[in-house]
Amino acid sequence: MIHSRIAGTGSYLPERVLTNADLERMVDTSDQWIVERTGIRRRHLAAEGQSTCDLAEQAARRALEAAGVTAADIDLVIVATTTPDRVFPSTACLLQERLEIHGCPAFDVQAVCTGFVYALDVAHRFIRTGGARRALVVGAETMSRIVDWSDRSTCILFGDGAGAVVLEAADEAGILSTHLHADGSYKELLTTDGGVSEPPPEGGQPHIRMSGNEVFKIAVKTLGAIVDETLAANGLEQGVVDWLVPHQANIRIIQATARKLKLPMERVIVTIEDQGNTSAASIPLALDTAVRDGRIRRGETLLLEAFGGGFTWGSALLVY
Ligand code: UT7
Repeated sequence: MIHSRIAGTGSYLPERVLTNADLERMVDTSDQWIVERTGIRRRHLAAEGQSTCDLAEQAARRALEAAGVTAADIDLVIVATTTPDRVFPSTACLLQERLEIHGCPAFDVQAVCTGFVYALDVAHRFIRTGGARRALVVGAETMSRIVDWSDRSTCILFGDGAGAVVLEAADEAGILSTHLHADGSYKELLTTDGGVSEPPPEGGQPHIRMSGNEVFKIAVKTLGAIVDETLAANGLEQGVVDWLVPHQANIRIIQATARKLKLPMERVIVTIEDQGNTSAASIPLALDTAVRDGRIRRGETLLLEAFGGGFTWGSALLVY
């Protein structure tokens, strides 16, 4: 059987930092409220003219370098993003062109904050079935472009960034299982107020709209259930996973999932304080951070999980 394993990781955060103090000057909020309710202190924002593909390219090049391969070795490119550069071509095609690789399949996956888990699942299936040998899987977002900077209930949450992994065919198991779900009946709780074929309101750019408290409650319950599903599928008990690498939406959601897994917070990769919610980029950003600072080591078991607009939710259990 062909397995798939992560050969290398990379990430990139744009230079500009927006602190809670900066937000206090923009909307009626406070550093104390933001930290207590979300765990966020600052977030990175793309510069004017810096696109999702620009962030993705930096993260991708670092992942290729970490994997010890060149772009020419890649035969599949998947970008998970909610904020593509253009309606089309896909950001994956734009990235493929930047990397000067031509001909291999390249496409975007849109599952909002769960996008990276979806993309990893798709790449894993390509590799297992012999459709690809080495995939570049990227989560990249410029959420700042769709944030309503006058809405204090959402503008404090989001940031920009990108993370990437090289996933390659291997003889020994890397990804052990993946679990994907969606339920479109919750579409109005976390959405944008318009898009391409639905006109934006008042002729402007579509913006994020969220019923935060309702989303929060469902996210906690749903992520608890997917932890159970993932452990059961692998015949594992709580507490045996080495690291939880969660989507970074809210520190209180992350703490609830860690409790469900019976993991102390020392075994949870948390980047939300410095990065905010970077949607599809948050898991590969967290993963790369912990690989590079030496916390996550080869042979350890990781549980990746995410919940986001759609609703979509998913998890992956893997040996790094
Ligand atoms: O990544 C995709 C998934 N997304 C999520 O999982 C996000 C889930 N939701 C959350 O993280 C939280 O619901 C929020 C952080 C968005 C909000 O926290 P909350 O504890 O659920 O607060 P709330 O929405 O119930 O609002 C409590 C109060 C309200 O005032 P009143 O009605 O009690 O007077 C809000 O108007 O806090 C007020 N509020 C704020 N106050 C200061 C809302 N936003 C702010 C703000 N600063 N930025």
